[in-house]
This record gives sequence, structure tokens and C-alpha cells, in this order.
Amino acid sequence: MILNASGCLDGLAAPEVARQLDAYVTKTVTPLPREGNAPVRIAETDTGMLNSIGLANPGISHFRETLPRFAELGIPIWVSVGGFCAEDYTDVCAQLDSEPVVDTIELNLSCPNVDAPKAGIAEIVAAAREATSKPLYAKLSPALPDIGAAAASAAAAGADGLSLVNTLRGMALDPETLEPRLSTAAGGLSGPPLRPVALAAVYAVYGATSLPLVGMGGVETGSHALDLIAAGASAVALGTVLFADPAAPTRIRAELAAEAAARGLESAFAARGRAHEPVAEIVVA
Ligand SMILES: Cc1cc2nc3c(=O)[nH]c(=O)nc-3n(C[C@H](O)[C@H](O)[C@H](O)COP(=O)(O)O)c2cc1C
Repeated sequence: MILNASGCLDGLAAPEVARQLDAYVTKTVTPLPREGNAPVRIAETDTGMLNSIGLANPGISHFRETLPRFAELGIPIWVSVGGFCAEDYTDVCAQLDSEPVVDTIELNLSCPNVDAPKAGIAEIVAAAREATSKPLYAKLSPALPDIGAAAASAAAAGADGLSLVNTLRGMALDPETLEPRLSTAAGGLSGPPLRPVALAAVYAVYGATSLPLVGMGGVETGSHALDLIAAGASAVALGTVLFADPAAPTRIRAELAAEAAARGLESAFAARGRAHEPVAEIVVA
């Protein structure tokens, strides 16, 4: 299954991109509208991209009015939910619970560009679990000191799956002025530099829980996606690559199928967890 990463694709503005996916994940929605951080909110670095959007979104009331338009995409809709305390998550999850268009809720527990929620991961997941019977995915930060333990606590609190990973905090300076290029100084680093970080996170969490895992971070090719699957991902999400290549979902799906065929696998997902098995079971044709 190939999804987009939250915040990296406007499915209403680019439905033809969204329809290449197996499910569409919305930008994070909070109880109240948020303008987000002041510009400049995006900066390129020599290896990846920095953003400090700050969860800009129209708020849950207005978002609900747009749900019929998301339904027109004709694919399952995952809604990313954010907040600053457990009640924020409960509030939004309870409102989404009665919306048939919403297939799955992804709890964004890991935005590096706003203050971290005051409650812990398990407390927020447990509160959201009480508010909705929809499938719940917890999206974790790669900066957690023990992401396997965090994932296990999310699972124990009622998460149905995990999304790994969000961005890592980074910074870039203007070469002339030596001032930070983002208005917030630091922001979330995404793209290629996140690839080995995401791989290590998925590998650790696969060993710590038996839940389905959406792997993401710097995926640009079918080979990158296969790596995440071998580390333990049961689905892969595309983020920063979508800004440069709107055809990426179709291309990466084809590359992934070719990678699987070259290894004599029925499907790429047959390689799930291979990185955890004893060496030399896969022979490249
Ligand atoms: C511009 C931008 C906006 C993002 N907005 C969100 C968001 O609203 N909610 C969220 O959970 N993650 C957000 N992310 C993080 C991505 O969903 C993803 O976890 C991260 O970018 C790693 O994947 P990538 O390296 O393929 O981009 C955002 C990332 C970018 C680049």
C-alpha cells in the first residue's frame, strides 16, 4: 500500500496525484483554525528540505465541510489529527468518528514545529481510543530516545498501527547574512537525510510491536520503499518527493514491483521483515 505523507500533498488541488495512491492522508487538523508560523516556512538544504509550517489548517469545523470533496477522490481517506493536549485530540477524533468518509485517523504526536503536546503518547492514544472506534495510527518522532518502547506504549493504549517517522529538527543559515533561513530558526528536516533514520525507526518498532507500520522518510525510489518494507513496514508513504515529482506514486509503485520480481517475490510486501531474518535468503535474479 502506498500513501502520501501528511502535509505533503493537497489532494483537493491535485486530485490526479492523490488518485495514484491507495489511500490519501490529509494535512494535520486541529480543533481551531491555525495560521501556522510566519514566513519563511520552507527552505532547501544541500541534502533535504526544512519546513516550519506550524500546523496551518482551517480547524475541524471547516475541515468537516470539505469532507465530501475528499470523498470524490474515491480512495480511503485518512485524517491526521493534532493538538496541544489530550482534550484537543479527543475533540477532533469524536467529531470525525461520525463521518463515514473518514477511513482511518492518524494521530500526529510528533510535529517538531509547534510546542509538543503536554500529555504523553500513551495518554493521548488512550483518550483518542475512547473518542472513536475508527482505526487509529500513532505517528511518532524519530527523535524519541526509545522509539520501540514508545510504539509499544501506543499499542498498549489502543493504537491499531504506527506511522514512522515525522521530520527531525534541523536548521539552515543564509550564506550571506548567516541568519537562519526559516522564521522559526529551526524546522523539520525531511527528504533523503531522513532515510537511514526512518529505516532504523521502522526496524526497531517492528521488533517491539506486531502492529501494521507505515514507513516514511526520504523515499524517492522503489528501492527505498523496499528497504522500509524489509525493515518492517506494511505500507510506505511518500512525502518530500511529491513536491518534485507528482508522478512519484505511479513510478515508485512500478519500481517496487520490479524490485520484487527481480527477487522472485510475489509482491514487494512479501519482503516485509526480511531485514530481521538470517542472511542470504533472497537471491537477486
Ligand atoms: C511541507 C511539509 C509539511 C508537513 N506537514 C505535516 C503535517 O501536517 N502533519 C504530519 O504529521 N506530518 C507533516 N509533515 C511530515 C511528513 O508527513 C513526513 O513525516 C516527513 O516529511 C518525512 O517524509 P519525507 O522525507 O518523505 O518527506 C510535513 C512535511 C513537510 C515537508
